[in-house]
Amino acid sequence: MKLGVLVSGRGSNLEAILEAERRGALGPGRVAVVVSSRPFVRAVDLARAAGKPTVVVDHRGFDGREAFEDAVLAALHEHGVEAVALAGFMRILTPRFLGAFAPGRVLNIHPSLLPAFPGAHAHRDVLAAGARVTGATVHLVSAGVDQGAIVTQASVPVYPDDDEARLAARVLTAEHRIFPRALRWLAEGRLELLAGGSRVRVLPPEPERTLADRYANLHAGPLLAARAEARAIAHVAASLGRPVVAVSACLLGQRCRWDGEDRRDDGVLARVAGAEVLPICPEVLAGFGIPRPAMELDAQGVMRRLDSGADVSASALAGAEAAALLVREAGARRALLKQKSPSCGTRVVRQGGTGALVPGQGLLARALDAAGVTLSAEDDA
Ligand code: GRF
Repeated sequence: MKLGVLVSGRGSNLEAILEAERRGALGPGRVAVVVSSRPFVRAVDLARAAGKPTVVVDHRGFDGREAFEDAVLAALHEHGVEAVALAGFMRILTPRFLGAFAPGRVLNIHPSLLPAFPGAHAHRDVLAAGARVTGATVHLVSAGVDQGAIVTQASVPVYPDDDEARLAARVLTAEHRIFPRALRWLAEGRLELLAGGSRVRVLPPEPERTLADRYANLHAGPLLAARAEARAIAHVAASLGRPVVAVSACLLGQRCRWDGEDRRDDGVLARVAGAEVLPICPEVLAGFGIPRPAMELDAQGVMRRLDSGADVSASALAGAEAAALLVREAGARRALLKQKSPSCGTRVVRQGGTGALVPGQGLLARALDAAGVTLSAEDDA
């Protein structure tokens, strides 16, 4: 979902949103454009430094609110914006502006626990009232200032020796946590409007799928399907925030068509404990749906089928490339590979027909090595 972020000043919330996008924590949300109502502010510098299209619509240059809003809307439409985040945007928006977006698609962050302490001096008002708790609120923008339906809140303590600056800094850390999260829910389509849009329910996420689940649905041989899957895996990996280790699928207990063994290498499992595991197998990725026939390796390392003489090295190579792509996109820095297989293999492979041990072709090992992934082999020779 394409987001437009409206700013007017310091831009620390914008910074948190951009950082979340970079980490993959905005889900399908993408900042398509940043619009500032003021020139020469830090938010504009931040947006430009992040490489985002940035438009300054200086409100002082416009005759009236409508003309100003039309210029903002033109910038948002030009970049295909579907939803808007007000991140320290200091202008009040009219119903006409809000009507340009689907209901529930314009969100604001406010530095208090609404409906308490609306307005431009929330921290000052909190201190004057002697409140012990305050916080931050993400809410839908409606015609009334700071009055739209609440999406999410975080509370923050107020200490006796607080002044406005100290309190604002504490609240700001909460803002930076909840605003990107709310935008992610929005982009994921998880904000349900209730009671005519006066309340919001956050729907639960789709059940989280592990990398292994995703891999199980991958029947694709060709590189193209792997590429789409790889992007999805990269996204899951980023959101899990755990290190990803690629492991030959057969070492995790999947049946290997090459040597018919059902392997489950507990030593390997112990080495990847605590990491998210990406099972890889070039044969599966190359679309071999049949038991693998006997092969031999010629002196140049080309694999040949012994029975028909058909050369399958091209599809094995495609599988190895697809696997390397998965590994790279999933962000895995390490891979544990099986040794005895022409496609994965790192060291030796039993030659079809003769049973002799010959050096493995190591298509996958080579592809991963080229991608800068650290390889280790299972321990038995
Ligand atoms: C924040 O406190 C936000 O809650 C309010 O304006 C301030 C903007 O700060 N709406 P920044 O520009 O995001 O640093």
